[in-house]
Amino acid sequence: MAFKERVFSGVQPTGNLHLGNYLGAITKFVALQDTYDCIYCVVDLHAITVWQDPVELKRTIREVTAAFIASGIDPKKQIIFNQSQVAEHAELAWIFNCVARLGWLNRMTQFKEKAGKDRENASVGLYAYPNLMAADILVYRATHVPVGEDQKQHLELARDISQKFNFDFAKSIASHGFDEAFFPQPEPLIQGPATRVMSLRDGSKKMSKSEPSDYSRINLTDDADTIAQKVRKAKTDPEALPSEEEGLKPRPEADNLVGIYAALNGTTKADVLREFGGAQFSSFKMALVDLSVAKLGPIGAEMKKLVQDHDYIDSILADGSKRASVIAGETMKAVKDIVGFVRS
Ligand code: TRP
Repeated sequence: MAFKERVFSGVQPTGNLHLGNYLGAITKFVALQDTYDCIYCVVDLHAITVWQDPVELKRTIREVTAAFIASGIDPKKQIIFNQSQVAEHAELAWIFNCVARLGWLNRMTQFKEKAGKDRENASVGLYAYPNLMAADILVYRATHVPVGEDQKQHLELARDISQKFNFDFAKSIASHGFDEAFFPQPEPLIQGPATRVMSLRDGSKKMSKSEPSDYSRINLTDDADTIAQKVRKAKTDPEALPSEEEGLKPRPEADNLVGIYAALNGTTKADVLREFGGAQFSSFKMALVDLSVAKLGPIGAEMKKLVQDHDYIDSILADGSKRASVIAGETMKAVKDIVGFVRS
């Protein structure tokens, strides 16, 4: 069977959204809505795999929702919702807990990184996290998943789970009249430049909400002065900008700033260097401040306005959840039949 093409992706409501989230994920989500039916999820169930302050969690769920809308995702045409309002995610995740093998999860590098040395003290949820992510995608039988490099391994796991489910239940799938490929094999969509935005203080580290220095990142809600200050203080080296991309290779900080400029401007690094090759950082940074403020300023302002209107944001999430539930409910009914549960 040919699956209906459908995009699914999720963003965790933890901490402030920054330029890395925007260029690495949200702008890609915006672009995809022209070609696909898209479901964008605020993955609050994933967030609580590490401790979240309940008051802060509510705030960040609304903030991510506001960022989606302010960036241009149309909540009427696409589906925007938060994961915990559609119970089928957790339901299918349990079934997948029984499909995925311990050996598969033991290979997940993100768990090893996040759990660190104190693995005994990590939550069971953090360990089973990739199974829930597989359920997120497959409960909508999504075919395309925009993700960063760091999520590719989880997506491979989702494909393994899909395949094993289809295989283990092949007889039951056929006897219920479903196509033998009940779940699709979701494909990653990894596109465009500056998918990886690096720290403004250290070009070898990803821009991150957990980095102690706020000068390492540009938050989506930073005002113009703050953006200007952060760009001005961004780490560079004493050389002028090169004229060819090759010249950026040994210079991670220069590479990062040129990449950010290109991504914000919708051009390539080569284009940026054609314009700024030979220029000093002082003048390039001025141009980068102007561009960042022009592009991010209106989004930040709109976000700040939207997050204050709880009724509006919550109604978007309620409407999205209702529409998502229709699709997820259909899948879950079929899954129950396939697995052999009795249902009304
Ligand atoms: N794990 C993803 C991240 O941290 C978020 C996520 C949860 C997700 N479920 C998903 C991404 C499903 C894509 C598809 O970035």
